[in-house]
Amino acid sequence: MSLIQKTPSAKKMLVGLRSMGYSFSTALADIVDNSIAAHASKIWIDSEPQDKNTYLYILDNGTGMNRDKLIDALSFGSDSDHDGSDFLDLGRFGLGLNTASLSQCKRFYVITKQQNEINGGYWDVDELENSDDWMLNILSLDEMEWLPGFKKLLELETGTLVIWKKFDKILSTTSKFETSFRSRVAEAKKHCELVFHRFYDEIEIRFNDARIHRRDPFLTSFDNAQHRTEEYLKYGNQKINYQAHILPHTSSLTNEQKDLIGGVETMRSEQGFYLYRNRRLIIWGNWLHMNSRSEFFKLARIRVDIPTTLDFVWNLDVKKTSAVIPDSLRDQLWAVVEDASKTSTRTYRFKGEKEYSGKVKVWNRTKTREGEIKYEINDSLPLIVYLKDKLGEEDSVLLDSLLKQIVDYLPKNQLNVDINDTDVKLANGEEQDDLDQLVDQLALVLSGLPPIARATICDKYLQYENYVLLKERREEILKKADEYATNR
Ligand SMILES: Nc1ncnc2c1ncn2[C@@H]1O[C@H](COP(=O)(O)OP(=O)(O)OP(=O)(O)O)[C@@H](O)[C@H]1O
Ligand SMILES: [Mg+2]
Repeated sequence: MSLIQKTPSAKKMLVGLRSMGYSFSTALADIVDNSIAAHASKIWIDSEPQDKNTYLYILDNGTGMNRDKLIDALSFGSDSDHDGSDFLDLGRFGLGLNTASLSQCKRFYVITKQQNEINGGYWDVDELENSDDWMLNILSLDEMEWLPGFKKLLELETGTLVIWKKFDKILSTTSKFETSFRSRVAEAKKHCELVFHRFYDEIEIRFNDARIHRRDPFLTSFDNAQHRTEEYLKYGNQKINYQAHILPHTSSLTNEQKDLIGGVETMRSEQGFYLYRNRRLIIWGNWLHMNSRSEFFKLARIRVDIPTTLDFVWNLDVKKTSAVIPDSLRDQLWAVVEDASKTSTRTYRFKGEKEYSGKVKVWNRTKTREGEIKYEINDSLPLIVYLKDKLGEEDSVLLDSLLKQIVDYLPKNQLNVDINDTDVKLANGEEQDDLDQLVDQLALVLSGLPPIARATICDKYLQYENYVLLKERREEILKKADEYATNR
């Protein structure tokens, strides 16, 4: 037998290396990982879409690299030691810098400063394809000077600047490059806000000079969320900490809390496990096959902290965006998943679910003699009675006909499909606006009654399911009813 050395063709390898499935956001986060691992306290991400000169750079004030380290960093499969001893080390494979950058652009530069020494190099896909050889470009100071972010790097004692240029991936998917570019950057900012939220107090990350927003998917410092005690799972002699959190019902969230969880619209898709590796969020909004997503479970979130020494157990991929729960841990997690799901369901039903919220229902559900289920609008609803009274006998026929049409054309089959589809979110409407509208409605109805009867009738109305949530606002309703009556 004899051996021959084979160097992979740069041209062919690049196709694979550029197609590892990174999104713009996950690629950018991989570069930020490196800055955090280099103990940076400040990270600036700046970008400017200007046709051929479009750029995005990530600059940090971390430890920087010397020339040898830089050349190693720019090789595929760099030689870094990830022994789990550094709690800021987010790397593992020695591939992220190159693969993440090349997944988004055809040319990227790395310039780094350490002890007044500045070194820089770059890879360019077009040049690699032409030469079909892995020849790394090393930059002279003159060549670096005009690059975006370079002057800012000079002001730092140590640091590293990664610049992306030639955004062929975005260009290939859009005719409106500038709009697409800006929206990718905006998405990436939101992505960074969430995945690095546990570093917020120590590390300042800025996008085009504006600091990213604070996020807290568990509302950790708020008492209206339910926080279970932090516990741990055992894998061999290693511990995996976890903690379940149940958010308050959406109608009880303050604006500050809505911002912290990233808005109520995404609550359903962000339920489930939140897996962290050295405090960096890698997977979220997923029950990892231990539960299915549901409207009822959307308040439940379980934080799990995976030590980097157990990476192999979770089958972590290069992008660090997918992992598999090992069977032995799965068994230990069933109880916490069940408890969190049940508590979420209870919180959800108690506060928000309109179907069970009052004694008198908007919809009557009856069984016909043939055994069929029939839904009808309850025509003794206060608002309907009030409208009929206002409209008079003749025009009330129109209202009846409208109500009949609503019932006849209820999309029963589609509703059935949507309710059973775990990926479909049925909107409940803007609850706060809803309630304000109901307060007005009820006040208007009551204003037509003699003042002496208003309070008693109001209490009756507050038993109806669509008004039951207004109980706390009884006095406000009565006051408004008086005002309506006086102004009439
Ligand atoms: N911003 C930076 N500051 C200092 N050193 C850096 C920086 N970016 C990269 N490096 C060095 O380059 C090496 C290679 O980075 P790269 O992202 O390719 O791999 P990694 O972080 O070791 O592992 P992974 O592939 O899991 O990200 C790092 O280990 C680090 O030593
Ligand atoms: Mg890395």
